[in-house]
Amino acid sequence: MILFQLLTVFLVLNISLANDCVKRTYTADSFVCVCDADKCDTLDIQKTVEPGYIAIYDSDQKTARLDKTIVPVGQLKSRIDQTKSSQFTLNVNVTDLKQKIVGFGGCFTDGAVINIASLSNDLVKSLMYDYFGENGLEYNIGRVPVGASDSSTHAYSLDDTPFDFTLSHFALAEEDTKYRIPLLKVAKMLNPEFRAFASAWSSPTWMKTNHLFHTAGGLIWKPGDVYYKLWAQYYVKYLNAYLDQGVKFWGLTTENEPIEGTRGLPWGTLGMTPEDIRDFVKLDLGPALKAAGWGKDNLTIMINDDNTEDIESYSSTLLDDPEAAQYVKGIAYHWYTRNYPSSYQILSKVHDKYPDYFIFSSEAGNGGVASEHLGDWGRAESYAIDILEGLQHWSTGWTDWALAVDTAGGPNWAKNWVDATIVVNATAQEYYKNPMYYALAHFTKFLPIGSTRVGSSVVNAPANVHTTSFITPDNTLVLILLNMGNDQIDLTINGFAKVPVTTTLKPRSIRNMLIALN
Ligand SMILES: *[C@@H]1O[C@H](CO)[C@@H](O)[C@H](O)[C@H]1NC(C)=O
Ligand SMILES: *[C@@H]1O[C@H](CO)[C@@H](O)[C@H](O)[C@H]1NC(C)=O
Ligand SMILES: *[C@@H]1O[C@H](CO)[C@@H](O)[C@H](O)[C@H]1NC(C)=O
Repeated sequence: MILFQLLTVFLVLNISLANDCVKRTYTADSFVCVCDADKCDTLDIQKTVEPGYIAIYDSDQKTARLDKTIVPVGQLKSRIDQTKSSQFTLNVNVTDLKQKIVGFGGCFTDGAVINIASLSNDLVKSLMYDYFGENGLEYNIGRVPVGASDSSTHAYSLDDTPFDFTLSHFALAEEDTKYRIPLLKVAKMLNPEFRAFASAWSSPTWMKTNHLFHTAGGLIWKPGDVYYKLWAQYYVKYLNAYLDQGVKFWGLTTENEPIEGTRGLPWGTLGMTPEDIRDFVKLDLGPALKAAGWGKDNLTIMINDDNTEDIESYSSTLLDDPEAAQYVKGIAYHWYTRNYPSSYQILSKVHDKYPDYFIFSSEAGNGGVASEHLGDWGRAESYAIDILEGLQHWSTGWTDWALAVDTAGGPNWAKNWVDATIVVNATAQEYYKNPMYYALAHFTKFLPIGSTRVGSSVVNAPANVHTTSFITPDNTLVLILLNMGNDQIDLTINGFAKVPVTTTLKPRSIRNMLIALN
């Protein structure tokens, strides 16, 4: 496998910058940008702005992808009669400091890393730059499935030898050693702030009540008993095996979608009720990790890692128990059963009750056969509104599902075909950057780790417009404005520049506005 050589190739190669998007339209309402061995667009973002100027970045359904305009503040001075009572106004309060950003990224599923490796070395490089590089999305988060997820060619665990109670047959898969680990190292090289967290879909089947990866089933017996202790040791072995290969995990979720496992899905699951997770963390996982050197200082444990429906019960059951809570730092959520605005209001409720634990989106993604959705602007909007409303309700970051799928939306052993931000066409040796890629850029490139949300309020906001406001570590004030409606919208902004400013949001668009503070 050529991937082994990639690490050294990366050190010596210069990628050419500032190519324009090569647009291609399929059946959807917008377009993709095509990357092949000759050409691939890059993102040219200036993160700081000279005093007296406002930087504007626009993307929209029709033509724009992070198009840049720099204007003197005076040019946007409010031209709207503010005495009109119906005027849409955004009030930003830069002294009202909220949560800090943890990061943004995507998932290194088996399917994703196999798809990436199906490209030529030059294209692997280009795709990794697109996600992790300075002129790409600058992702600083990677999620890693422990063993198979549905985005794998087959179901497996890392110890499928029945009744191996010493875990002596535990071993990383070829997917780990051949594909994923080299790519995780590339990500880290491209972005030194890159951090990975792991999540397991299912334990080995011999530890489970149903003896299957899929359908409803959990670990045999109960927390504190032998199977739960073994499952905790399996995590320790996993973290240490990656460490031996040069990848140190930053975080771990207690497992992927514990409630779904109690209901059963056609792919790997492991059912655990809120009480099971609480007792597993308290009696088995927490102590095992701590004893192995993976205490709270070394590893960020996140709970829930499931949709928002049951996030309140998983959070309160565990965090109200100090013995279990001592091991936990964050609360992770998925987007699948979301409703606007109720699912986001639940995040605020959880934050208000447990303000010391960060809230973080650990999975989101659109379904369907990928080739049927190429260039879909609605999917860019679905990402943008989920990220934006999450941030407005105390989330600290966001994680995309598979980094790359093939044109069918696979591979996927459970035939759970999905869409992705980047779709790989190995036959043509090209890949497609969907509108979602550029929607993500409005957040990932402008909100580095440690950016702080600031309070804002809206008056007479149209239902289709959503906004969030942040201050970056280098003291730039960033507004992100999403217009999902078909009409252009005039907006007056107070508390951004020294004077009220007016801007017009294009139909079906995302606009970032930046200004230097002080
Ligand atoms: C801005 O936020 C600060 C800190 O929360 C608060 O004290 C102040 O009243 C706010 N200003 C306005 C105009 O709401
Ligand atoms: C965890 O941190 C401690 C001290 O902070 C260190 O001695 C230990 O080696 C670390 N363990 C791992 C697995 O990195
Ligand atoms: C992938 O490439 C093949 C070969 O060039 C082509 O026939 C096919 O249409 C491409 N698929 C998409 C979705 O563009």
